Amino acid sequence: MNEGKKVQAIQEEILRLKKEKNALILAHNYQIPEIQDLADFVGDSLGLARRAQETDADIIVFCGVVFMAETAKILNPEKKVLIPSLDAGCSLVDSISLEDLRAWKAEHPDAVVVGYVNTSAEIKAECDICVTSSNAVELVRSIPEDREILFLPDMFLGAYVARKTGRKMHIWPGECHVHARLGYHRIRQMQTRYPDAELLVHPECGCSTSCLYYAENGDLGEHVHILSTSGMIRKARETRAKRFLVATEVGILHPLRKAAPDREFVPVDEEAICPYMKKITLENLLTSLREEVYEIDVPENIRTKALKALQAMVSVG
Ligand code: 13P
Ligand code: SF4
Repeated sequence: MNEGKKVQAIQEEILRLKKEKNALILAHNYQIPEIQDLADFVGDSLGLARRAQETDADIIVFCGVVFMAETAKILNPEKKVLIPSLDAGCSLVDSISLEDLRAWKAEHPDAVVVGYVNTSAEIKAECDICVTSSNAVELVRSIPEDREILFLPDMFLGAYVARKTGRKMHIWPGECHVHARLGYHRIRQMQTRYPDAELLVHPECGCSTSCLYYAENGDLGEHVHILSTSGMIRKARETRAKRFLVATEVGILHPLRKAAPDREFVPVDEEAICPYMKKITLENLLTSLREEVYEIDVPENIRTKALKALQAMVSVG
């Protein structure tokens, strides 16, 4: 069997099992095209969390990374939530431990703890509010002015949110190794090559605060848009520009090109590949559905605390 036929046969078997088991397949915008194309819903962290919360399917198969599947389980505990590979981690999740956070909180006992959704369930259970890249600014703005804020774990998103809101925050020095390399120097090089292009930048990028600074001060004009992954897709649909430079993981190019096939999307760095997102393959998705592995479980005492922090997140933005 040639490669194309093999892929098609696996996809057909996945769709057959999905129907038979009343399963819902959710996929993040960074998943490989073959998975995005058969998923019931493709989106960013916020969209996926909301979709997981409202489903009446019996099984949710999460094609993304473990913290996203955990979030689905916390929001919808009666469902069986599966992830095709437990190796689908996240460098941001790994950048803060429970001990780190407890010690940090002890130094600032009155602070509001704002945690990015890219955290483990046990870290979420220690946070007051959870945010995603699409609603972090709005949620931080809703915190009373006189409250001290701890923001974790992404320093680039944290610096971006602090600048946008004008709030002073203590920011944990964590980073995503894929986005940290997308710095301002690289963006400027690409802009010199493509001066007519609009710029789509994820706030986790190493360049996000400098981009915002230069956009505010005129250097990048109105051509820079700092957005979540699904925010980028919406922007590409509604902006008339012919060409976009894209500063995030390259998996996003597939949904961007599907959403706006008449535009050109150029990655700022074609090596910006998340190895964790790529742990999910058609083969392990098939095994996941067939054998109902790997089931995500969140202990109830952690789940109920984490749920409180997630409730604000899913209701805003
Ligand atoms: P989004 O919520 O914008 O999709 O981002 C998730 C993520 O992990 C980016 O690296
Ligand atoms: Fe985590 Fe970065 Fe991968 Fe997103 S791109 S899942 S933040 S490692």
